[in-house]
Amino acid sequence: MSILALREYPDPILHQKAEVVSKIDDELRLFLDDMLETMYTDHGVGLAAPQVGVSKRMIVIDAEQKEDEEGHHQKGNPIALINPEIIYTSEETIFFCEGCLSIPEQRADVERFQKIKVRYQDTTGAVKEIEAEDYLAVVLQHEIDHLNGILYIDHLSRLKRNMLLKKLEKARAAKNEK
Ligand code: NI
Repeated sequence: MSILALREYPDPILHQKAEVVSKIDDELRLFLDDMLETMYTDHGVGLAAPQVGVSKRMIVIDAEQKEDEEGHHQKGNPIALINPEIIYTSEETIFFCEGCLSIPEQRADVERFQKIKVRYQDTTGAVKEIEAEDYLAVVLQHEIDHLNGILYIDHLSRLKRNMLLKKLEKARAAKNEK
């Protein structure tokens, strides 16, 4: 397995609508394993293929992972979802403080559906459905957004979005000075 390079804001691939996956084979399964490994290494809860430079409709998540004493992320319940589609959303919404590996070190409150149902294909190509609420629902909505070229900051007001992007710029500049 290998660790994949992360694309960061404002990389154009993050703003593109990703393509449907038509062929699920060993090569794709290996890529999904690499995505999971990359996600754990970078301390993410989810990762979408465009974030590692592949504009295809695939995400990996693990909303149940744990951290060991050294801060390494341990597998909880990894799931790879191919061609995921939200087929139900609740009326009720929740706010959750989100971050994104493509927008390092920043966080903001985003409004999401409290409960959703997602249809997807697993790594064998079988069609499955997952019902999710609260944290898992938030993670899925965030990652599926990535496949439509939407980042969590796109859900913020213009003022909040601009403030966050300024902080991102500052953090990057500070890092480059070191
Ligand atoms: Ni993200």
